[in-house]
Amino acid sequence: MGNGIAHVMARSGLRVMLCEVEQRFLDRGLETIRKNLDREVAKEKLTAAEAAAALGRIRGTLNRLELVECHFVVEAATEKFEVKREIFRELEGIMPAGVILASNTSSISITKLAGQTGRPERVVGMHFFNPVPVMKLVEVVRGLATSQATFEAVRDLAVRLGKTPVEVNDAPGFVSNRVLMPLLNEAMFAVMEGVATAEAVDEIFKLGMAHPMGPLTLADFIGLDVCLDIMRVLEDGLGDPKYRPCPLLIRMVDAGWLGRKSGRGFYTY
Ligand code: CAA
Repeated sequence: MGNGIAHVMARSGLRVMLCEVEQRFLDRGLETIRKNLDREVAKEKLTAAEAAAALGRIRGTLNRLELVECHFVVEAATEKFEVKREIFRELEGIMPAGVILASNTSSISITKLAGQTGRPERVVGMHFFNPVPVMKLVEVVRGLATSQATFEAVRDLAVRLGKTPVEVNDAPGFVSNRVLMPLLNEAMFAVMEGVATAEAVDEIFKLGMAHPMGPLTLADFIGLDVCLDIMRVLEDGLGDPKYRPCPLLIRMVDAGWLGRKSGRGFYTY
């Protein structure tokens, strides 16, 4: 999602530093941004000059120390607490004291991430939705210590990006994934138990509930590894067996079938 966040920030006139862990991920991210900006030019949402200017505002780096120049950070690493903890601890040492550290986490506790830093009042959730250039929502998550000034800064930034911020309090999965993921997980149980095929389940949600994508297409789109990580956060954090990840989901992730990004999930791509 990092490339989508960089895309919308640059499109709204902000200078962006896109920090990755490996050159190949950075190259892939920049290529995706280029393609999606071209798509917006083709749809006449942007002029070619605006798209080129937006791309010109993005600088890639592999060196986190370079982030010291930035006035705001949004972390969008994989959905594992240990990975994010390491990043927040490092950012605490790099970024000047007044800088807000936001996380695009889909489910991990903002309060817990804030606790890794010496500035918990400046840590907040800024949760975007895929595809980031298209989806209007930003879930703005208040941790226990998030200050009103931090909340308002992120809310105003979301508006500047053309998004609609919605405020929620910190809880496992916040609102979006606490409600969405059990739906996707239950759809997987229905497939596993042979109630219907993936295609039939998806058809039911598209035609019967006017969802733009059925739940299994959406799970593939989000990434099955991400879905599993989020179900585990819900299961651990809420302690209710109704959040148990579907065994089929676990098996597919073990097999490396991660959905669209790996070429195979409930569908082949
Ligand atoms: N960048 C820029 N524009 C894009 C884009 C991208 N990556 N992907 C699609 N678009 C644009 C298209 O150009 C098109 O624009 P117009 O309406 O102006 O023509 C529009 O989006 C629709 O795209 P398509 O016509 O290609 O395809 P579609 O109508 O099937 O829509 C979709 C695609 C927007 C992805 C739609 O299927 C959809 O809304 N799906 C549900 C997505 C969803 O639920 N996302 C949330 C996932 S949960 C999450 O992200 C958070 C989490 O924590 C897990």
